[in-house]
Amino acid sequence: MTGQPHHTDAQQYLPGMGKHWLLPIYDPFSRLAGVGRLHGQLMDRANLRSGQRILEIGCGTGNLLTALAHRHPDTVALGIDPDPAALRRARRKATRANLPIHYHQAFAGALPLPDDSVDRVLSAFMLHHLDDGERARALREARRVLRRGGELHVLDIDGTLSDRGKRVAHRNPRMAASVPERVLAALIDADLIRPATNGGGRAWFGRYAFYRAEAP
Ligand SMILES: C[S@@+](CC[C@H](N)C(=O)[O-])C[C@H]1O[C@@H](n2cnc3c(N)ncnc32)[C@H](O)[C@@H]1O
Repeated sequence: MTGQPHHTDAQQYLPGMGKHWLLPIYDPFSRLAGVGRLHGQLMDRANLRSGQRILEIGCGTGNLLTALAHRHPDTVALGIDPDPAALRRARRKATRANLPIHYHQAFAGALPLPDDSVDRVLSAFMLHHLDDGERARALREARRVLRRGGELHVLDIDGTLSDRGKRVAHRNPRMAASVPERVLAALIDADLIRPATNGGGRAWFGRYAFYRAEAP
Protein backbone atom coordinates (compact mmCIF):
# COMPACT_ATOMS: atom_id res chain seq x y z
CA MET A 1 0.00 0.00 0.00
CA THR A 2 1.28 3.46 -0.78
CA GLY A 3 0.34 6.89 0.50
CA GLN A 4 1.40 9.53 2.99
CA PRO A 5 2.11 8.55 6.61
CA HIS A 6 -0.47 9.74 9.18
CA HIS A 7 0.23 10.77 12.77
CA THR A 8 -0.77 9.33 16.15
CA ASP A 9 0.63 11.49 18.95
CA ALA A 10 4.20 12.15 17.79
CA GLN A 11 4.60 9.06 15.61
CA GLN A 12 3.62 8.48 12.01
CA TYR A 13 2.03 5.45 10.42
CA LEU A 14 0.75 4.37 7.05
CA PRO A 15 -2.89 3.21 7.33
CA GLY A 16 -4.30 0.05 5.74
CA MET A 17 -5.18 1.40 2.29
CA GLY A 18 -2.54 4.13 2.37
CA LYS A 19 -5.11 6.86 3.20
CA HIS A 20 -7.55 7.08 6.10
CA TRP A 21 -10.55 7.91 3.91
CA LEU A 22 -10.07 4.61 2.05
CA LEU A 23 -10.55 2.49 5.20
CA PRO A 24 -14.23 1.66 4.38
CA ILE A 25 -13.06 -0.21 1.26
CA TYR A 26 -10.33 -2.14 3.11
CA ASP A 27 -12.47 -5.21 3.86
CA PRO A 28 -14.16 -5.40 0.42
CA PHE A 29 -10.71 -5.01 -1.18
CA SER A 30 -9.30 -7.79 1.06
CA ARG A 31 -12.17 -10.12 0.17
CA LEU A 32 -11.73 -9.45 -3.53
CA ALA A 33 -7.98 -9.96 -3.29
CA GLY A 34 -8.40 -13.32 -1.56
CA VAL A 35 -6.53 -12.16 1.55
CA GLY A 36 -8.64 -14.50 3.75
CA ARG A 37 -7.13 -17.51 1.98
CA LEU A 38 -3.63 -16.12 2.58
CA HIS A 39 -4.44 -15.50 6.25
CA GLY A 40 -5.43 -19.19 6.37
CA GLN A 41 -2.04 -20.16 4.92
CA LEU A 42 -0.29 -17.98 7.52
CA MET A 43 -2.19 -19.76 10.32
CA ASP A 44 -1.37 -23.16 8.75
CA ARG A 45 2.34 -22.30 9.01
CA ALA A 46 2.21 -20.94 12.55
CA ASN A 47 1.93 -24.26 14.48
CA LEU A 48 -0.91 -22.91 16.59
CA ARG A 49 -1.78 -24.95 19.69
CA SER A 50 -4.43 -24.69 22.36
CA GLY A 51 -3.56 -22.45 25.30
CA GLN A 52 -1.15 -20.28 23.32
CA ARG A 53 -1.11 -16.48 23.53
CA ILE A 54 -1.02 -15.13 19.98
CA LEU A 55 -0.29 -11.52 19.08
CA GLU A 56 -0.91 -9.93 15.71
CA ILE A 57 1.07 -6.73 15.09
CA GLY A 58 -0.68 -4.35 12.67
CA CYS A 59 -4.01 -6.18 12.98
CA GLY A 60 -5.98 -3.49 11.11
CA THR A 61 -9.68 -4.31 10.90
CA GLY A 62 -9.13 -7.66 12.66
CA ASN A 63 -9.74 -10.11 9.81
CA LEU A 64 -6.86 -12.45 10.67
CA LEU A 65 -7.61 -12.54 14.40
CA THR A 66 -11.34 -13.01 13.77
CA ALA A 67 -10.57 -16.06 11.62
CA LEU A 68 -8.02 -17.26 14.15
CA ALA A 69 -10.43 -16.99 17.08
CA HIS A 70 -13.02 -19.03 15.13
CA ARG A 71 -10.46 -21.64 14.14
CA HIS A 72 -8.62 -21.83 17.51
CA PRO A 73 -11.14 -20.81 20.18
CA ASP A 74 -8.88 -22.25 22.88
CA THR A 75 -6.10 -19.68 22.30
CA VAL A 76 -5.74 -16.12 23.60
CA ALA A 77 -5.80 -13.62 20.71
CA LEU A 78 -4.27 -10.15 21.03
CA GLY A 79 -4.04 -7.48 18.34
CA ILE A 80 -2.34 -4.10 18.16
CA ASP A 81 -2.56 -1.33 15.58
CA PRO A 82 -2.01 2.44 15.75
CA ASP A 83 -5.16 3.18 13.71
CA PRO A 84 -8.14 3.82 16.02
CA ALA A 85 -10.68 3.63 13.19
CA ALA A 86 -9.42 0.21 12.06
CA LEU A 87 -9.50 -0.98 15.67
CA ARG A 88 -13.14 0.17 16.04
CA ARG A 89 -14.04 -2.08 13.10
CA ALA A 90 -12.01 -4.97 14.55
CA ARG A 91 -13.73 -4.65 17.96
CA ARG A 92 -17.16 -4.48 16.31
CA LYS A 93 -16.49 -7.80 14.53
CA ALA A 94 -15.35 -9.43 17.77
CA THR A 95 -18.40 -8.19 19.67
CA ARG A 96 -20.82 -9.30 16.94
CA ALA A 97 -19.33 -12.82 16.86
CA ASN A 98 -18.85 -12.92 20.65
CA LEU A 99 -15.12 -13.54 20.28
CA PRO A 100 -12.85 -12.62 23.22
CA ILE A 101 -10.13 -10.86 21.16
CA HIS A 102 -8.09 -8.19 22.97
CA TYR A 103 -7.32 -5.15 20.82
CA HIS A 104 -5.00 -2.31 21.85
CA GLN A 105 -3.94 0.87 20.12
CA ALA A 106 -0.15 0.69 19.85
CA PHE A 107 2.78 0.72 17.48
CA ALA A 108 4.60 -2.50 16.68
CA GLY A 109 7.79 -0.71 17.69
CA ALA A 110 6.57 -0.13 21.26
CA LEU A 111 4.42 -3.08 22.34
CA PRO A 112 2.40 -2.68 25.55
CA LEU A 113 3.29 -6.22 26.64
CA PRO A 114 5.81 -7.67 29.10
CA ASP A 115 8.90 -9.63 28.07
CA ASP A 116 8.42 -13.36 27.31
CA SER A 117 4.64 -13.12 27.33
CA VAL A 118 3.42 -14.54 23.98
CA ASP A 119 3.92 -17.82 22.09
CA ARG A 120 3.38 -16.51 18.58
CA VAL A 121 3.68 -13.15 16.85
CA LEU A 122 1.88 -12.91 13.51
CA SER A 123 2.16 -10.12 10.97
CA ALA A 124 0.10 -9.94 7.77
CA PHE A 125 0.75 -7.33 5.08
CA MET A 126 2.11 -4.96 7.71
CA LEU A 127 5.93 -4.91 7.47
CA HIS A 128 5.90 -3.04 4.15
CA HIS A 129 4.03 -0.21 5.92
CA LEU A 130 7.07 0.48 8.13
CA ASP A 131 10.17 2.54 7.46
CA ASP A 132 13.55 0.98 8.25
CA GLY A 133 13.67 2.35 11.82
CA GLU A 134 10.18 1.22 12.83
CA ARG A 135 10.67 -2.16 11.14
CA ALA A 136 13.84 -2.75 13.19
CA ARG A 137 12.04 -1.67 16.40
CA ALA A 138 9.03 -3.87 15.56
CA LEU A 139 11.14 -7.00 15.05
CA ARG A 140 13.13 -6.34 18.24
CA GLU A 141 9.85 -5.92 20.11
CA ALA A 142 8.54 -9.18 18.62
CA ARG A 143 11.65 -10.94 19.92
CA ARG A 144 11.29 -9.28 23.36
CA VAL A 145 7.67 -10.35 23.90
CA LEU A 146 8.12 -13.86 22.51
CA ARG A 147 8.79 -16.65 24.97
CA ARG A 148 11.91 -18.76 24.42
CA GLY A 149 11.26 -20.88 21.32
CA GLY A 150 8.23 -18.76 20.43
CA GLU A 151 7.72 -18.12 16.73
CA LEU A 152 7.25 -15.09 14.51
CA HIS A 153 5.30 -15.72 11.29
CA VAL A 154 5.10 -13.03 8.64
CA LEU A 155 3.11 -12.68 5.42
CA ASP A 156 3.96 -9.67 3.32
CA ILE A 157 4.12 -8.18 -0.14
CA ASP A 158 7.23 -9.34 -1.96
CA GLY A 159 8.50 -6.19 -3.63
CA THR A 160 10.93 -8.07 -5.88
CA LEU A 161 10.34 -6.55 -9.29
CA SER A 162 11.33 -7.14 -12.86
CA ASP A 163 14.14 -4.95 -14.20
CA ARG A 164 11.51 -2.71 -15.79
CA GLY A 165 9.68 -2.36 -12.47
CA LYS A 166 12.77 -1.55 -10.42
CA ARG A 167 12.29 2.16 -11.06
CA VAL A 168 9.01 1.98 -9.07
CA ALA A 169 10.65 0.15 -6.16
CA HIS A 170 13.34 2.80 -5.97
CA ARG A 171 10.69 5.51 -5.72
CA ASN A 172 9.08 3.71 -2.76
CA PRO A 173 11.69 2.80 -0.12
CA ARG A 174 9.21 0.73 1.94
CA MET A 175 8.48 -1.54 -1.03
CA ALA A 176 12.17 -1.69 -1.93
CA ALA A 177 12.82 -3.01 1.61
CA SER A 178 10.05 -5.58 1.27
CA VAL A 179 12.13 -8.20 -0.52
CA PRO A 180 13.26 -11.54 0.96
CA GLU A 181 16.95 -10.64 1.34
CA ARG A 182 16.15 -7.41 3.23
CA VAL A 183 13.44 -9.01 5.41
CA LEU A 184 15.72 -11.94 6.33
CA ALA A 185 18.55 -9.51 7.18
CA ALA A 186 16.16 -7.53 9.41
CA LEU A 187 15.10 -10.73 11.22
CA ILE A 188 18.76 -11.56 11.89
CA ASP A 189 19.47 -7.98 13.07
CA ALA A 190 16.65 -8.39 15.61
CA ASP A 191 18.47 -11.43 17.08
CA LEU A 192 15.75 -13.79 15.96
CA ILE A 193 17.03 -17.26 15.11
CA ARG A 194 16.38 -19.67 12.23
CA PRO A 195 15.05 -16.92 9.92
CA ALA A 196 13.70 -18.40 6.72
CA THR A 197 11.36 -17.77 3.84
CA ASN A 198 8.39 -20.10 4.04
CA GLY A 199 6.83 -20.07 0.57
CA GLY A 200 4.89 -17.46 -1.31
CA GLY A 201 3.05 -16.87 -4.54
CA ARG A 202 1.44 -14.36 -6.80
CA ALA A 203 -1.99 -12.74 -6.58
CA TRP A 204 -3.47 -10.10 -8.84
CA PHE A 205 -2.24 -7.38 -6.46
CA GLY A 206 1.34 -8.66 -6.74
CA ARG A 207 3.71 -11.18 -5.22
CA TYR A 208 3.63 -12.19 -1.58
CA ALA A 209 6.01 -14.12 0.67
CA PHE A 210 5.88 -15.93 4.01
CA TYR A 211 8.71 -15.76 6.56
CA ARG A 212 9.36 -17.40 9.91
CA ALA A 213 11.86 -16.97 12.73
CA GLU A 214 12.15 -17.95 16.40
CA ALA A 215 13.07 -16.36 19.69
CA PRO A 216 16.27 -17.85 21.14
C1 LIG B 1 -2.49 -3.55 4.98
S1 LIG B 1 -2.98 -3.36 6.65
C2 LIG B 1 -3.02 -5.06 7.21
C3 LIG B 1 -4.04 -5.30 8.26
C4 LIG B 1 -4.18 -6.76 8.69
N1 LIG B 1 -2.95 -7.27 9.18
C5 LIG B 1 -4.69 -7.63 7.57
O1 LIG B 1 -3.96 -8.54 7.13
O2 LIG B 1 -5.83 -7.41 7.12
C6 LIG B 1 -1.53 -2.73 7.46
C7 LIG B 1 -1.78 -2.29 8.88
O3 LIG B 1 -0.53 -1.92 9.49
C8 LIG B 1 -0.82 -0.87 10.39
N2 LIG B 1 0.43 -0.17 10.76
C9 LIG B 1 1.06 0.82 10.11
N3 LIG B 1 2.15 1.22 10.82
C10 LIG B 1 2.19 0.43 11.92
C11 LIG B 1 3.07 0.35 13.04
N4 LIG B 1 4.13 1.16 13.17
N5 LIG B 1 2.81 -0.56 14.01
C12 LIG B 1 1.73 -1.39 13.90
N6 LIG B 1 0.87 -1.36 12.87
C13 LIG B 1 1.09 -0.46 11.89
C14 LIG B 1 -1.82 -0.01 9.66
O4 LIG B 1 -2.52 0.87 10.52
C15 LIG B 1 -2.70 -1.07 9.01
O5 LIG B 1 -3.80 -1.39 9.84
